[in-house]
Amino acid sequence: MTELKTKTIAEIVSDDISTASIFKKYKLDFCCGGGKTVENACKKENINVDDVVNDLLNNTSKKETPNLNFKDWSAEFLADYIVYVHHSYVKQNLSIISEFADKVANVHGQHEPKTIEIAQIFSTISSELTSHMGKEEFILFPAIKAKADNPNFEFDEKTLSLVKEEHEEVGTMIKKIQELSSDFTPPEWACNTFKALYFKLEEFTNDLYQHIHLENNILFPKVKNL
Ligand SMILES: [Fe+2]
Ligand SMILES: [Fe+2]
Repeated sequence: MTELKTKTIAEIVSDDISTASIFKKYKLDFCCGGGKTVENACKKENINVDDVVNDLLNNTSKKETPNLNFKDWSAEFLADYIVYVHHSYVKQNLSIISEFADKVANVHGQHEPKTIEIAQIFSTISSELTSHMGKEEFILFPAIKAKADNPNFEFDEKTLSLVKEEHEEVGTMIKKIQELSSDFTPPEWACNTFKALYFKLEEFTNDLYQHIHLENNILFPKVKNL
């Protein structure tokens, strides 16, 4: 019990990705702020640490999520996995979600101004993520692979810290959407597009958290050992 409190969130999620949904429920960041211990993160956010630990101990989603051993994968393989799984997901979904968000904002914006704000934030996320993923695919990941092939390769730390900063920024924006949408809960009167928007936004958020977690907490630390 106390052991869980003093572990970092990143460690717990790296050991068992199914715990990610628990941290998300409490809005505890496991991808960018994952370096904090459970205890400290809860203190900072004013959350009862025992509730979180209880949920972690009673984690039942374990059986449903295949637990891949990302930590044991080579940096090259993990970089490819991130591109094929997460970058493709983002590319496939940005325009679908933007379309829903704009439609909902146009129809409901007047009496539900939050929908306008959500559409605006998502549009920023969309353009920033597109250039961010380009940076990873064409500069950072090829550099990681080059370093894995040749330990003498001069690795540019600047790109790495820039990419990490961008993770923070997009993480903050997605959290804002989570708040504005009351955790992706559509109002009683919501039409199907509205429901679809919140459903897709939640799916997108889950994917993004996992994506940034793999980069920040598993892939980037591997670079130091190449
Ligand atoms: Fe990425
Ligand atoms: Fe990234």
